[in-house]
Amino acid sequence: MAFVNENYFKLSPSYLFAEISRRVETYRKEHPEKAASIIRCGIGDVTEPLPQACIKALHKAVDEMAVRETFRGYGPDYGYEFVRHAIAGEYRERGMTIADDEIFLSDGSKCDCANILDILGGGNRILIADPVYPVYNDTNVMAGNSDVSFLEGTDENGFVPPPPGTAADVIYLCFPNNPTGAVATREQLAAWVAYARKNDALILFDAAYEAYIRTAGIPHSIFEIPGASECAIEMRSFSKNGGFTGLRCGFVTIPKTALGKRKNGTLEAFHPLWARRQSTKFNGVSYPVQRAAEALYSEEGRAQVKDLTDFYMRNAKLLREALDKCEWQYIGGVDAPYLWVKCLPGKTSWDMFSFLLENVCIVSTPGSGFGKMGEGYFRLSCFNSRANIEEVCRRLSTLKVA
Ligand code: MLT
Repeated sequence: MAFVNENYFKLSPSYLFAEISRRVETYRKEHPEKAASIIRCGIGDVTEPLPQACIKALHKAVDEMAVRETFRGYGPDYGYEFVRHAIAGEYRERGMTIADDEIFLSDGSKCDCANILDILGGGNRILIADPVYPVYNDTNVMAGNSDVSFLEGTDENGFVPPPPGTAADVIYLCFPNNPTGAVATREQLAAWVAYARKNDALILFDAAYEAYIRTAGIPHSIFEIPGASECAIEMRSFSKNGGFTGLRCGFVTIPKTALGKRKNGTLEAFHPLWARRQSTKFNGVSYPVQRAAEALYSEEGRAQVKDLTDFYMRNAKLLREALDKCEWQYIGGVDAPYLWVKCLPGKTSWDMFSFLLENVCIVSTPGSGFGKMGEGYFRLSCFNSRANIEEVCRRLSTLKVA
């Protein structure tokens, strides 16, 4: 009989958002009369249609696939040059030196965050901010990485923990942060790059929400920090800026100058390892989807991304105003589509989840699902229709906070 991966038994039995869906489904079954009133502010899933530029590109690409002369089979393993060039071009416009072939297309950032462990050796000392996107920790547990420490995000440090006094080999950072919506300043990121360089560590930087940054001067990419291309890999997604959660596309940026080491001490670049990994395990993103991703970088596409993200940020503003009126304590919603809200006194974050579901039919995400430091908080997602967000604001205003 085949042995199973023992590491899976160290995980909580279900993934955070699967557990939320399960609980909401149970509640719907038990209270069918309330099913239609449930508003989902849990998982950060987009609700608005794709930008028109993408729709046009998709239609055109599908038409090309219908004709022998323009039909395409397998694409290049790392993505078509047209989209890699568009992505790297945007980095370059922002003053970073990223080459087209340092971009690797994928079917989304969640997979990249998980798969990147394929090119990292065992025995690394891993640092993960807490609270944070649960995929980082869960995938390290699955891989059997046992030396994992957590950086404590607190009210005091604004959920942007500083580098610790001890050394690590791999650091996961996510800014704008999921779940807290906190952003890191240039100085804060520079401190992380300095730490990584001093300790020969690698930063895995998740920038899935960079399109929501509205405050001038906040870095959109780790590569805005001098020296980062020697010690960082960046993960980016089209899910939240282009509304691709159902279309699936993202990318990893791996500068050829980012190095790790072999057991014998020889320095090696991560770039060829990821190239080898992708060409063996991945057959690329579909041609129409890559054309849709490319369209996000056209003049029309950029304007539509701005409109789309502005729409969700307007939702964030409405939610902030509603929370302010009721004197709820929260952070976020300024440079990110999430609000990180303090639980009512005496309630754990799962208590709060049940309280909101049962009393006002609002689905939230319990903070403890993002790590130990998330206990005492819950997350509200701003990805929703305007009508739903207005209704959420109205319902929140009916709750007694103190
Ligand atoms: C979230 O709600 O945290 C995200 O939507 C999850 C994801 O992007 O995978």
